[in-house]
Amino acid sequence: MKPERKKNPVAVTKPVAARTMDDAEPAFGEGGIPIWIFVALGVLIYFSLVYLDRSAGGFNSLVYEPFESYDAVKKSQPATGNPLIAQGREVYGRTCTACHQPTGMGTPGQFPPLAGSDWVNAAGPDRVIRIVLNGLQGPLKVNGTDFNNAMVAWKDILKDDEIAAVVSFVRQEWGNKAPAVTPAQVKGVRDATKDRPDAWTGDELVKVPEGGEAK
Ligand code: HEC
Repeated sequence: MKPERKKNPVAVTKPVAARTMDDAEPAFGEGGIPIWIFVALGVLIYFSLVYLDRSAGGFNSLVYEPFESYDAVKKSQPATGNPLIAQGREVYGRTCTACHQPTGMGTPGQFPPLAGSDWVNAAGPDRVIRIVLNGLQGPLKVNGTDFNNAMVAWKDILKDDEIAAVVSFVRQEWGNKAPAVTPAQVKGVRDATKDRPDAWTGDELVKVPEGGEAK
């Protein structure tokens, strides 16, 4: 005979435990997240957007759009780290362009070129600073070509830093590769030549040492 299986009396007879608060599902409703948190969040988001828009530059395309290429990045930089060059470009545009032209090529027979000029590209700047301060007149050779005209003086119009800027600019533009010039160098030449009222001549200038630091 099979032994009779004993029934588990407990499974049948134990009463279901009463539900307590511990078993309850978490739920929204009364006593949930207080309303002020939503108000505070709204205010926070509002002022974050205001900050992004105004103080952080917003989503301005100038700030966020990438450059198309490395070349584009390079072109957006000044030619050298010297801020005088940018100022010099501006001074050139309002004082020299009329005669020497935006290209620095001058006008044949009338205004000599600054691009590639041996006067401009001299190792030292003492002659070219004199030219800009007092002007220049009479027979002149520029890269083997003869000129015989007159250039106005700038010493009463341009300050030392403006002359330093424009001379630095013409010495580094159009493929020219001479060292930049400081306002102190211009002041030095201005002081040394303050008793001279007239424009220079080419013959006089070739006797003036080029100046500048020996390289
Ligand atoms: C009114 C026209 C005129 C203006 C403006 C002018 N120049 Fe000249 N520049 C001349 C002439 C003309 C000569 C040649 C003078 C001669 O024949 O003796 C000359 C000569 C020169 C030379 C020496 C020759 C050479 O080609 O390298 C330099 C450097 C020069 N100028 C720089 C400048 C700079 C920098 C400015 C602006 C600050 C300037 N010039 C403004 C007319 C001008």
